[in-house]
Amino acid sequence: MNRNFRNQPSDFFKICYTYKPCLDALQISTIYILNKVPKQFPEMRFFSRKLIKPEDLNAHGTLFGGSVLAWIDEEAAIYVICQLGKGNIATKFMSEIDFVSSAKLGDIIEIGMQTVAFGKTSITVRCEVRHKFTQKPIIRIDKIVFVHLDDESKPTPHGISEPANE
Ligand SMILES: CC(C)(COP(=O)(O)OP(=O)(O)OC[C@H]1O[C@@H](n2cnc3c(N)ncnc32)[C@H](O)[C@@H]1OP(=O)(O)O)[C@@H](O)C(=O)NCCC(=O)NCCS
Repeated sequence: MNRNFRNQPSDFFKICYTYKPCLDALQISTIYILNKVPKQFPEMRFFSRKLIKPEDLNAHGTLFGGSVLAWIDEEAAIYVICQLGKGNIATKFMSEIDFVSSAKLGDIIEIGMQTVAFGKTSITVRCEVRHKFTQKPIIRIDKIVFVHLDDESKPTPHGISEPANE
């Protein structure tokens, strides 16, 4: 059989016609697979910076965990409100808090947030606090879950499935 399409162009169209159902199936399955692959979430972004002041220290003279957790909760709430474009949210869950290293008086730290998952009524974010200049980590929290609430403080769908560049 002569396989030179330049000599017999009709052969080329015959083959295309024969294999068209396979090509269609391949195209459909590629689209299906691409839709099933989880969307890439942007990398962690660092927003607020804090100067460690005397009132932020514990009895040992290093950064007090309670202060930094309050900063994280506020930063995460602001981040989530910007992600959802909705203000009525509540902190539902926080995973283990890893106090990786300490910070001292006069240090400047920065707080990073990253979207990890969108649920129906919830959104999960990851947090890292680090030294501004050395970038040495201070605290890591892998999972902070917020829930979107209705006017009666009951969970209600937020309708968001993709991260916002906020
Ligand atoms: C937020 C609150 C209304 C949620 O009520 P609930 O009955 O637990 O809600 P549901 O069981 O319907 O879960 C709501 C969402 O949270 C998620 N969720 C619930 N418990 C969770 C947990 N332990 N870990 C992770 N996600 C959780 C659910 O998966 C669901 O997400 P989805 O809709 O995206 O799938 C209620 O727990 C509450 O009022 N808590 C106090 C919140 C508060 O005061 N926070 C301030 C800081 S203390």
